[in-house]
Amino acid sequence: MKIEELILANSAIVENKLKSYINVNGYGLEKPMEYSLLSGGKRLRPFMAIEAYKLFSKKNDIEKVLPYACALEMIHTYSLIHDDLPSMDNDDYRRGKLTNHKVFGEANALLAGDALLTYAFSVASSNDNVSPMSVKNAVKVLADCAGFAGMAGGQMLDINSNMSSYDDLKKMHELKTGALIKCAMLLGYYAYCDVPNENIVCDLTKFALNIGVAFQIRDDILDKIADEAILGKPVGSDEKNNKLTSLSYMSIEEAQATVDNLTNEAIDIISKYSSENDTLIQLAKYLVERNK
Ligand code: IPE
Ligand code: IPE
Ligand code: MG
Ligand code: MG
Ligand code: MG
Repeated sequence: MKIEELILANSAIVENKLKSYINVNGYGLEKPMEYSLLSGGKRLRPFMAIEAYKLFSKKNDIEKVLPYACALEMIHTYSLIHDDLPSMDNDDYRRGKLTNHKVFGEANALLAGDALLTYAFSVASSNDNVSPMSVKNAVKVLADCAGFAGMAGGQMLDINSNMSSYDDLKKMHELKTGALIKCAMLLGYYAYCDVPNENIVCDLTKFALNIGVAFQIRDDILDKIADEAILGKPVGSDEKNNKLTSLSYMSIEEAQATVDNLTNEAIDIISKYSSENDTLIQLAKYLVERNK
């Protein structure tokens, strides 16, 4: 199967599982939660978690990793709901639909984000298909990657936009975007084994941070050149908000060359574990040229 088909097939499995989790009575809060969670994201982080699991297990028994993959997608979706708020990027469209606060109002969007974040931990810790040790490792990596030392810390740097060099900006990219991609890879590995090998964790982290920074640089490029109808979110959001992005430090061509280099380094690292045409390598190559 081609990588696009693999992504779509995986996304259908993840969507079904997410639907089963979100079928709850939350005093009305389930509506804004569901609106964003089931609004058709690419589901790349769950895909990476599942593929990282398969990389080690060599099996298709993904029920071990699926709850973790869904928990991560809940955290990712919360991060997008809050990222779009008027006090942050103030954007009106996401995943081809009006943003959460545009439909439900700011207060409900804030709460839907809070509830998705906390529900993620409930879902991850209720994973009955793995050992208690696996759950402990998963909950810790979800918390660390989402919090001050991960995505939230990166968003803080982004909002304050006081990076004085490309290296500072790269750190911000590693945190705001790389951390949840790192989380995906490690969740896949933690679904497979209870006592993680430090060298493997280190390689998966390096792979993920490279892919994460490349993903965010491509996102910055798409914010300038994409077709809004395909992208599903506004083009020009960064300029509107006077954001420092990779394009504040380099041309589009240089930025795309950086995406290529980071991806090639990532492929070298993961190749130790994977043969030439493996899915994670195909995914890394696909993300370099993505248009949405
Ligand atoms: C958007 O992530 C936020 C960034 C880190 C750039 P995605 O591009 O994966 O968004 P969805 O989930 O497909 O909507
Ligand atoms: C990444 O940055 C967002 C998060 C970590 C939530 P952006 O603000 O560039 O993401 P988009 O472009 O709105 O998806
Ligand atoms: Mg932002
Ligand atoms: Mg944004
Ligand atoms: Mg962006």
